[in-house]
Amino acid sequence: MNPNQTPDLNDPSLIASLHSKTEAARQLLRWTASEFAPAALANSLGVEDMVLTDLVMKEKLQIEIFSLDTGRLPTETYDLMQRLRRHYGLTLTLYYPRHDLVESFTRVHGINGFYESVELRKACCHARKVEPLQRALAGKKAWITGLRAEQSETRSGLPAQQFDASNGLEKFNPLADWSEREIWAYIRSNDVPYNRLHDKGYPSIGCAPCTRAVEAGEHVRAGRWWWENSESRECGLHVARN
Ligand code: ADX
Ligand code: SF4
Repeated sequence: MNPNQTPDLNDPSLIASLHSKTEAARQLLRWTASEFAPAALANSLGVEDMVLTDLVMKEKLQIEIFSLDTGRLPTETYDLMQRLRRHYGLTLTLYYPRHDLVESFTRVHGINGFYESVELRKACCHARKVEPLQRALAGKKAWITGLRAEQSETRSGLPAQQFDASNGLEKFNPLADWSEREIWAYIRSNDVPYNRLHDKGYPSIGCAPCTRAVEAGEHVRAGRWWWENSESRECGLHVARN
């Protein structure tokens, strides 16, 4: 198992940084809920989003929690959605792709046509994620993500707050400066439910056909769209559109 998943909860420096970063994230979420209503948390059911979900639910913040159900998510991700109903009494708001867009993609390119080129992969991500995200964000003043600066080069220097010009609203990344070890320290010390794929070698989780487990020492996002060059490996949710 990835050693970051079992951090030493007796390590005083880890506990100190966890404490201060948790407090900062909690304050930012409270401020977002009060000053940017209506705000929404985008929950992919990955481990970062579970930290944010736990904070929002425990603080009883007026923040909608939504997921983009692409129709191609792993079974373990759907299992976690169901477990959240029991654990928190949380009903996620689910957004689905437009059936006409998916039907035309699959008719022309085939059900797994996204393996054929970067353009087709991005077209699938657009139909199944980006267009539903636009509907999820319509009428919102802010959205909240589990992005972390450490996750990739394209995310380095990520601020905790930024204006999302593509979608025309404020974007908050309360975990921007958290390490993977701190994320897991939060999960372990608060007994937060998490996606079982993390125990099977998946540090980053997206759609089932486009995500694989990583080997020890591989980059955390090496399993996402693994057949592509690393520069193209974003789905379009977090890249500026011109
Ligand atoms: S992606 O761009 O490569 O797909 P990643 O999986 O790292 O993104 O997730 C980054 C953040 O994007 C998550 O913390 C979450 O806020 C949002 N996100 C990604 N996928 C989804 C999804 N299916 N539903 C809701 N939010 C998502
Ligand atoms: Fe389609 Fe794969 Fe993108 Fe999911 S991650 S929307 S299956 S290309």
